[in-house]
Amino acid sequence: MSGLMDQFRRPMGRRGRLVAALMNRGHKPLTSWGLTHVHIKPDYVILDVGCGGGKTVNRLAQQAASGKVFGIDYSADMVEYSKKVNKKLIAENRVEIVEGSVEKTGFSNDFFDLVTAIETYYFWPSFSDALREIRLVLKPAGKLLMVNEMVKDGVYEIKHAKMIEQAHVRLIPLEEIRNTLLSAGFADVQIFTKAGSPWNAVLAQKP
Ligand SMILES: C[S@@+](CC[C@H](N)C(=O)[O-])C[C@H]1O[C@@H](n2cnc3c(N)ncnc32)[C@H](O)[C@@H]1O
Repeated sequence: MSGLMDQFRRPMGRRGRLVAALMNRGHKPLTSWGLTHVHIKPDYVILDVGCGGGKTVNRLAQQAASGKVFGIDYSADMVEYSKKVNKKLIAENRVEIVEGSVEKTGFSNDFFDLVTAIETYYFWPSFSDALREIRLVLKPAGKLLMVNEMVKDGVYEIKHAKMIEQAHVRLIPLEEIRNTLLSAGFADVQIFTKAGSPWNAVLAQKP
């Protein structure tokens, strides 16, 4: 498993595809829990940043049945993998997967009702630049939902120091996430945690 740890940041090649399959299965309970914190209307236009293997895009498209879901990832191999997972929905023009980075998505301003980011902020080169870009592409009153299974709370990062180093994870304390969101122009920041686990979900709104 340790040889796979550096694949979570930017899955590529054969090992990357294996990690994509693992994440599509393994992140399901976390993603289900995270998505309970946001109301998704059927006509929503949604962007899943760092979409990885594309399963979340697929699930979001079930909920936004008359809307459209976009996935973006900076790994060309994940884009290809996500396209396969969402082949039918892409053919129906209900899903689009694009290669690109969260800091510069290439989408128009005021375009999305919701941006989701599952297990990905840890790897963004600049958290604040990414948040500013997400705010730009969200419609006014649009929401960002970040869902994470790791937390920096003074205990988790010490217990899991080896894994964090191997996977090149950069954890940010929840209060710092809140403050960075506010500095990037978001409002109404809500932080949800799951009792007895490190899981957390952060919901914020573009004013
Ligand atoms: C741990 S995986 C999570 C994938 C998926 N969200 C899930 O929950 O299964 C992190 C993903 O974020 C992508 N990623 C990391 N930094 C990125 C960035 N700056 N821009 C776009 N994608 C990024 C990686 O390529 C990878 O597919």
